[in-house]
Amino acid sequence: MAEKLLTRNVGVPGSATLEVYEQRGGYQALRKAITLPPESVTDEVKKSSLRGRGGAGFPTGLKWTFMPKDSPKPRYLIVNADESEPGTFKDRLLMEEDPHLCLEGILISAHAIRAKTAFVYVRGEFVRALRTMQMAVDDARKKGYLGKNILGSGADIDVVMHRGAGAYICGEETALMESLEGKRGYPRLKPPFPAVAGLYGCPTTINNVETLANVPFILERGADWYLTIGREKNAGPKLYCLSGHLKRPGVYEAPLGTQLMTLVNEMGGGLWKDGRKLKAIVPGGASAPVLTAAECADVPMDFDSLAARKSMLGSAGVMVMDDTVCMVRALERILRFFAHESCGQCTPCRVGVSWIHRIVKRIEDGGGQSGDCETMLDVCDNMIGKTICVFADAAALPAMAFVNKFRSEFEDHIKQGRCTLPEA
Ligand SMILES: Cc1cc2nc3c(=O)[nH]c(=O)nc-3n(C[C@H](O)[C@H](O)[C@H](O)COP(=O)(O)O)c2cc1C
Ligand code: SF4
Repeated sequence: MAEKLLTRNVGVPGSATLEVYEQRGGYQALRKAITLPPESVTDEVKKSSLRGRGGAGFPTGLKWTFMPKDSPKPRYLIVNADESEPGTFKDRLLMEEDPHLCLEGILISAHAIRAKTAFVYVRGEFVRALRTMQMAVDDARKKGYLGKNILGSGADIDVVMHRGAGAYICGEETALMESLEGKRGYPRLKPPFPAVAGLYGCPTTINNVETLANVPFILERGADWYLTIGREKNAGPKLYCLSGHLKRPGVYEAPLGTQLMTLVNEMGGGLWKDGRKLKAIVPGGASAPVLTAAECADVPMDFDSLAARKSMLGSAGVMVMDDTVCMVRALERILRFFAHESCGQCTPCRVGVSWIHRIVKRIEDGGGQSGDCETMLDVCDNMIGKTICVFADAAALPAMAFVNKFRSEFEDHIKQGRCTLPEA
């Protein structure tokens, strides 16, 4: 079994305290990194090929190099802890169980991009995570790990905790910046990109909590070691969120590229009830196109393998459905969420998501009409790539996958005016 890294302190008594974190080797990577020139830290992370764990899998070190070298403005690091994608609950675990690991990653990364302030934007409902992180910040400050002249190095970095107000769209990086500035969480048009004009119009890098939790290991043990975990171009450990019809749902750590069915059967304990069969799996949170049971047989869980199967790793929210699940009802639940969360700025998204939701709801309620599937696919087609942010794509792509892959179930529902599956 692969060595646990991101979750090595989870379940250890007192894991959230500075004392236990230090006893278990914590803050050694910061001690090393803070004495290195920022460019060397960035080079090591670039060499490790670490990719962002927030959804898109963008190379982290490369993103850091986009920060302008000569801007006179303040530079910021934002930590995206909004974690509102249905099926996703890994960042919460990290913040609640190992806040100092998160903090150590934040401080090293802020040093790498020469930011003196890091903002951590925490999902509003994560009250415990926010409190635990705040306690870690306060304790680390007392010990000289953050604030002025960190560990006598001359570097100044402060960390500010911010609580969001419960909107999924505020996880989108530019909506998050608007929200942090005290405005409504509307995504911004890009360009300009955050590295050029981000928070308060200043150079800003934004990274996910789990992304930054990888950084201390890279600095401590080196990029070459990190590259031995996972697969080519998909290196490192990964947190997978297993939910749905499993015996042991939860957060599990395994290398990127671990087989989907290994996660389901070995870590998740297999399907929850004997006699049930696997019907489908959403592999990467609600925005990821669903895979049929047949497609799940050989799926390495990494960015490139899932993209090759026209789905995505996304936030690694693995939602397992057994053969009692009605796919019309499942899609209705997903689209209800997206229709509620659209910020409403763009017509194809505002109108499109609620339109496809209304159609699925009508089918689910027994009033489906012939041609409903075509209309849905047509509306989806007109949403993709036509909006300010990718929220519209995130709603349309899973809808298309449900309809295309389980078409007969949708058509039967329309013809019979009811669900045709046997009662579970
Ligand atoms: C609608 C929407 C919601 C998002 N929610 C989150 C989120 O909760 N957490 C997160 O880290 N990234 C989220 N993202 C991705 C961020 O915009 C951004 O790409 C990410 O924080 C970058 O970090 P990374 O490079 O470390 O992955 C979301 C994107 C979209 C379009
Ligand atoms: S795509 Fe949707 S969520 Fe994104 S800016 Fe447009 S309306 Fe808002």
